[in-house]
Amino acid sequence: MKKATKEKVTATRGARALRDDARYLMNTYKRPPVVFSHGKGCYLYDHRGRKYLDFLGGIAVNALGHAHPRLVRVIRREAARAIHVSNLFHNPYQGPLARRLAQWSGMDRVFFTNSGTEAIEGALKLARLYARQKSGGSSSSSAAGSAPSGSGTLAEAPAGTRTRILALENSFHGRTFGALSITATAKYREPFAPLVPGVEFVRFNDLEDLDAKFDSSVCAMVIEPIQGEGGIYPVSAPFWQHARKLATQYDAALIADEIQCGLGRTGRYFAYQRLAGLPDIVVVAKPLAGGLPLGAILAREPFASAFTPGLHGSTFGGGPLVCATALEFLTTVEEENLLSNIHARSAELRAGLVKLAAKFDFIRELRGEGLMLGLELSVEGGPYVAEALGRGLIINCTHDYTLRLLPPFIVTARQVNEFLEKLETVLAKTRRPAETPAARVARRPERAAEAHAVAATR
Ligand SMILES: Cc1ncc(COP(=O)(O)O)c(C=O)c1O
Repeated sequence: MKKATKEKVTATRGARALRDDARYLMNTYKRPPVVFSHGKGCYLYDHRGRKYLDFLGGIAVNALGHAHPRLVRVIRREAARAIHVSNLFHNPYQGPLARRLAQWSGMDRVFFTNSGTEAIEGALKLARLYARQKSGGSSSSSAAGSAPSGSGTLAEAPAGTRTRILALENSFHGRTFGALSITATAKYREPFAPLVPGVEFVRFNDLEDLDAKFDSSVCAMVIEPIQGEGGIYPVSAPFWQHARKLATQYDAALIADEIQCGLGRTGRYFAYQRLAGLPDIVVVAKPLAGGLPLGAILAREPFASAFTPGLHGSTFGGGPLVCATALEFLTTVEEENLLSNIHARSAELRAGLVKLAAKFDFIRELRGEGLMLGLELSVEGGPYVAEALGRGLIINCTHDYTLRLLPPFIVTARQVNEFLEKLETVLAKTRRPAETPAARVARRPERAAEAHAVAATR
């Protein structure tokens, strides 16, 4: 097909997709009228043939950019072999992928899921199950297939079982009921109440509050080593260490949610590797299979062995095509020294962003590690994201005020320069939104309640 004809067909398809989306999709996402038709490396192309530098990477998913030749080769090969064989049978890739994840993480065993939220659900079940077994409770009745009978059996754990779960204020762990129950943000939770009971939120990086809430009734504490959706806030080393100590003391699971910050993003295999003490359970997803849906629960042996046949499962999780692709992703990160690239590009990005912060007084703070950076503004970030898109740059804004950067691990020095130039233009040309009273309050998670109080009085 001639280039001009091809462009016309793509544009027509794009326009049709927009019409059908508006008419037939449930109204869950606020999207600009752009249809991305394809990508290559760190660039995406829309239905009108416009090129965009992608510094969001599918929200931390496209770690090898778009159409990476190594992933394309494996996907083609495996699609022609077996896409799915069911977890009733072995496939050639689950075991080798689990072994590599165990080596990267220091965990012992792995369970594969289809998404981050599903990995969180499984991790919470595993922590509850471990606590129940430790308290002498049976875990086999429902697994045997007979529905438990008698009042109270379904609603309550046996007396003495630890069931409480601690999570952090400002956390985000997903959209299914368990994950939503440990997600702090009220606007995500409240419309769906009642949620899973027994959850309590600890003030971010507040050791005293942690001490006050952690006791012998807790079975799990869930922490994002760097809060992602919450605005790129790293958990402090003393807080992590203290959580580790209390989890050991009470034999509860310390669960690291590495769905956004893990698998190389921070320049380490896992973000908790900057902190002292391993978690008991780690959950990953987003970049694991380079954009194909795959998540995983990784656990140390004492916890992992709580699962026995029938207690947990998934139809799609860990199929041969996704696992082969994930194995290729991990191998590529290793063979192409991508952690070094992440460190080098991160240093360049930070240096450039610090210069921009000196120039634009509405930049308040730069946070994050590796290629997970947040640039907090004193004004709302939405208009900057829109202006960037119009100028061929994809970024995102989280928690209203923080511009979030999650570029692919393969980003080059030249692309970092291109990004910084584009961002400078965006910061200069966007009509600056008014500062709101809430914006003047530091939006650190430990002061979130104060910010909400200000917002409520607006
Ligand atoms: C830290 C964290 N946990 C869990 C999730 C949920 O993952 P998924 O959207 O794959 O269900 C996300 C998604 O953004 C996340 O950032």
